[in-house]
Amino acid sequence: MKTVSSLTAFVTLVFLVPISFANVTPFQPRSLKTNLFPSGYTYTSGFTTASGVSASGISPVSLSDSDLNVIKVTSGVTHNVVSQNGKTAWEAVYPKGSYNPSGTPKGGFGFYLGGSDKFQTAVQGGAKQVMFGYSVMFQNGFQWNMGGKLPGGFGGIGDSAFACSGGRQTDREECFDLRLMWRSNGEGELYAYLPLTSTNAKALSTAGPETVLNSDYGYSVGRGSWTFPAGQWVTVAERIKMSDPYQANGEIQVWFNGNSVINVKGLEFRNTTESLIQGMHFQTFFGGSTSDWASPINQKAWFADVSGAVIS
Ligand SMILES: *[C@@H]1O[C@H](CO)[C@@H](O)[C@H](O)[C@H]1NC(C)=O
Repeated sequence: MKTVSSLTAFVTLVFLVPISFANVTPFQPRSLKTNLFPSGYTYTSGFTTASGVSASGISPVSLSDSDLNVIKVTSGVTHNVVSQNGKTAWEAVYPKGSYNPSGTPKGGFGFYLGGSDKFQTAVQGGAKQVMFGYSVMFQNGFQWNMGGKLPGGFGGIGDSAFACSGGRQTDREECFDLRLMWRSNGEGELYAYLPLTSTNAKALSTAGPETVLNSDYGYSVGRGSWTFPAGQWVTVAERIKMSDPYQANGEIQVWFNGNSVINVKGLEFRNTTESLIQGMHFQTFFGGSTSDWASPINQKAWFADVSGAVIS
């Protein structure tokens, strides 16, 4: 018995210790370049506002509305360019009590971003697969409440692509909106508006640890797949692969600090090649559409290293 138990202890030490160690540090630090543009892909027509990131197929651009083809800016909120912990960033201000972009007081910001001219031309020409990325820093001591929106990719058929959010019910097969969200305690998720098909519901529900298929609003996909810290820069990337018409071969993948945290396949984006990836829905606010989602205090977050590229 003694031999058996010390053998068990030995086996446990050898095999369990490395596993539990890996669980303690699930997110290995990587370079900013691979956090924004994960390796294993060939990038073309790309852009980044990150300084010091040079990669084949990626051109530097400045963090400005004109260089990034920013349109449809929500009025009454600001996205001032500031210097924050070593990065040039857009500042989001969330006043105490703010929730939902149309509420009072208004908080966060929102607009659509086409990316650099070259990128925009490539996606308008029908690019099937893209990578988007940015860094985000939540103010030290950030109070998350129930959650809020974070930027992500969007697209669809022409102007039908816009406002594919906020509980939209009509023409849902003509648009998609793939923002991220933070939830309670900084838990991350993909917040997906996709055509409301049973194939999409099935594919998205496989993305653990928790997926909530709320057809009135977006689907909360993979809640808790990663956790945002406050007081430091972190980087997210989102890969969108459009499906071919009448085929369920679309994909969405999310990386947090260079580590793949969500990877969904078998999605239906469209039944016509008129539906296109169009850019990023660069939006952030607390909510939610009711006051229990409101920011508990006056607080801020910053967004930098705005990036995108076509995957060839
Ligand atoms: C495409 O058409 C098929 C067959 O009519 C339908 O089942 C599917 O939901 C449609 N997909 C989208 C994205 O509209």
